[in-house]
Amino acid sequence: MNKLKSATKHLYLLGLLLLMVFLQYCKSKQTASTTFEAKTFENPVTYNKDISPIMEQKCTPCHYPERGKKKLLDTYRATKNNIDDIIHRVQLAATEEDFMPFKSKKEPLTVAEIQLMKDWVSQGMPE
Ligand code: HEC
Repeated sequence: MNKLKSATKHLYLLGLLLLMVFLQYCKSKQTASTTFEAKTFENPVTYNKDISPIMEQKCTPCHYPERGKKKLLDTYRATKNNIDDIIHRVQLAATEEDFMPFKSKKEPLTVAEIQLMKDWVSQGMPE
């Protein structure tokens, strides 16, 4: 009787473990397929749709004509020509001198926003 009880308990735990593994598997499959979609041509990362809004939110007014004293980064061409420096700077520690947004006057870019910039580069920076 006791033996049976402990066997049932083991079976129950095993089932639970399998369920957890299965759920984890489903979850990883799901995220893998969404990142894949984002990288296909159905949903390309473009300057106008994705990159410009980030720049407008995080790099104004300093790099936009209204304050125009710093290097302008307000157009497709300017962003494209400076993308390596941009991606480098937004990933620095906020305490570093070269970090952008300058002196943390604006919120730092999120991991997702930085990833979007990298995806944009790997897709050939479409406008
Ligand atoms: C509060 C004002 C301010 C904001 C906001 C800001 N910057 Fe800057 N940026 C500066 C200043 C000042 C400099 C010049 C100092 C330096 O070279 O480190 C600079 C320099 C730069 C440079 C080098 C330009 C050159 O002359 O080659 C790049 C690239 C840059 N910023 C990118 C960005 C990006 C990308 C953002 C938004 C995520 C941003 N900055 C937000 C003030 C700002």
